[in-house]
Amino acid sequence: MTATATALRRAGQPIVLVPTMGALHAGHASLMRQTPGTVVVSIYVNPTQFGPKEDFTKYPRTLDADCAVCEQAGAEFIFAPTDAEMYPNGLAAVSTWVDEVQVARRLEGERRPGHFRGVATVVAKLFNIVRPDHAVFGQKDYQQLKVIQRLVRDLRYPIEIVAAPIVRDADGLALSSRNRYLTPAERAQAPLLWKSLNAARDSFQAGERNPVRLQAVLQRLLENAPGFRLDYAEVADGETLEPVTVLKPGNILLIAAYLGQTRLIDNLLLS
Ligand code: PAJ
Repeated sequence: MTATATALRRAGQPIVLVPTMGALHAGHASLMRQTPGTVVVSIYVNPTQFGPKEDFTKYPRTLDADCAVCEQAGAEFIFAPTDAEMYPNGLAAVSTWVDEVQVARRLEGERRPGHFRGVATVVAKLFNIVRPDHAVFGQKDYQQLKVIQRLVRDLRYPIEIVAAPIVRDADGLALSSRNRYLTPAERAQAPLLWKSLNAARDSFQAGERNPVRLQAVLQRLLENAPGFRLDYAEVADGETLEPVTVLKPGNILLIAAYLGQTRLIDNLLLS
């Protein structure tokens, strides 16, 4: 992959990396069309970002269908490495980690210890292998996007990070590889995350500036909904992900909730 990328760069083509774990959907496909250049899609279910009780073994692996999605979206290359390529010392003996500790501290980082360390480490490896000019990340995983932006700044990667908007189904549910775990009944309930975000946004737009009251609006629908178990529903600074005392544009609303066995996340930037 590195040799191919070097040849492309010599030919003067900007290289656009789209890191994914596969099980590709229209949200992933949109990332492949964000910025001009030769698009390289990486597909790797990265074991080090999954907790011991998470869905690593059952995570959907659909390489053939993924290749079709990439081709349709106009991506030129797929990089689907093995564990041995990504972790040459073996998974039990990773000796070098990349660990962003500020933006990654709260929210997902708090609930999923080691998750962002796994993400940052694998993304750093992908950057070193592919050496892209641009790398595209979705706002769907907002905190992840912010961690990667920090990583690039702190480690001085000469890579432009492109943030892509969230692609949603018609009823507002953000597309996610994990949506395929939902039963039909759960799928019908799932847009409640989006409704909750909208209720809180409406309240902000109507003049609410108190984060505690806004958080109550954000939680209200989900707290009483059968099948849902709220993990967090918070408003935070859009850059640091720290709590805020007075709401303002650029703050971010973030929700994580279990619907049955499936953990869903969603977010909305206040503007
Ligand atoms: P994965 O969950 O496969 O997501 C790959 C990329 O697709 C991420 O940047 C994610 O934010 C984006 N994405 C997912 N659903 C989206 C949607 N509905 N709209 C727009 N973008 C969406 O995120 C990961 O993989 C991994 O953590 C990874 C970065 C590949 C490191 O292993």
